[in-house]
Amino acid sequence: MTARIIDGKTIAQELRAEWKVRVDALKARGITPGLAVIIVGEDPASKVYVGNKVKACAEIGLYSEHIALPADTQETTLLAKIAELNVNPAIHGLLIQLPLPNHIDSHKVLEAISPNKDVDGFHPMNVGALVTGTTLFPPCTPSGTMKLLEKMGIEIEGKHAVVVGRSNIVGKPMALMLLHNSATVTICTSKTMNLGKYTRDADILVVATGKPHMITGDMIKPGAVVIDIGINRLPNGKLVGDVDFESATEVAGYITPVPGGVGPMTITMLMANTIEAAEREEKQE
Ligand code: GUN
Repeated sequence: MTARIIDGKTIAQELRAEWKVRVDALKARGITPGLAVIIVGEDPASKVYVGNKVKACAEIGLYSEHIALPADTQETTLLAKIAELNVNPAIHGLLIQLPLPNHIDSHKVLEAISPNKDVDGFHPMNVGALVTGTTLFPPCTPSGTMKLLEKMGIEIEGKHAVVVGRSNIVGKPMALMLLHNSATVTICTSKTMNLGKYTRDADILVVATGKPHMITGDMIKPGAVVIDIGINRLPNGKLVGDVDFESATEVAGYITPVPGGVGPMTITMLMANTIEAAEREEKQE
């Protein structure tokens, strides 16, 4: 069997065209949705991600502010900047790129973001509301994954979904979203003993560990849906996921490529959350 490729790039483009209609409608009513992205320090991967976010926003007509602060920025300076953006009417969404330098308490920083502008969905209020199914903003990578499953017509109800990875950004919210859709969910980590025992039982396997080629074809149930959220740069410069694509594609029913699978969906959902924030604010005026 050769797996069907889940083409995140094309699906993301189609969705962005839909989002643009909403942006144009808001603009016609005098509102330009605005996103502020703060990056602290010089992490090369983070710089690329942030650049991509800002560029993608411009493409569909969103206003964006890219705030680059030096690595030695004091926590108080960052908190003051967040407080300022929280009340800036041109900004509907505010995102702090992670990871932050070690001397800054990222929990404290995420808690300082207004939950109404927390388009990453990382504020504890939004995280808590995700547990109860009432979050204002679903975190972008897992919600992008759910959107891919929906667009591919993949049933979730009653399936066994195995999530490998337990980060706050991906693994935990991913497991909750699958659970909300009535999957039976198992959460594994990169340290799970006999990982293959669990992954081989997955109808839907979502991998987000940051370990290149961790999941090989022999760890996949024939016909399973394999979602690879990893993005790793090998010493030779090649970008690969956490799944060994060559062997996995022989066994899986569906698979996301890296790049071009989940990646483009993350930014697409960030745009959706920012537009949603602006639409909500308009309703409250
Ligand atoms: N770092 C890695 N992924 C993300 C993300 O989705 N949002 C933010 N803010 N930082 C990240």
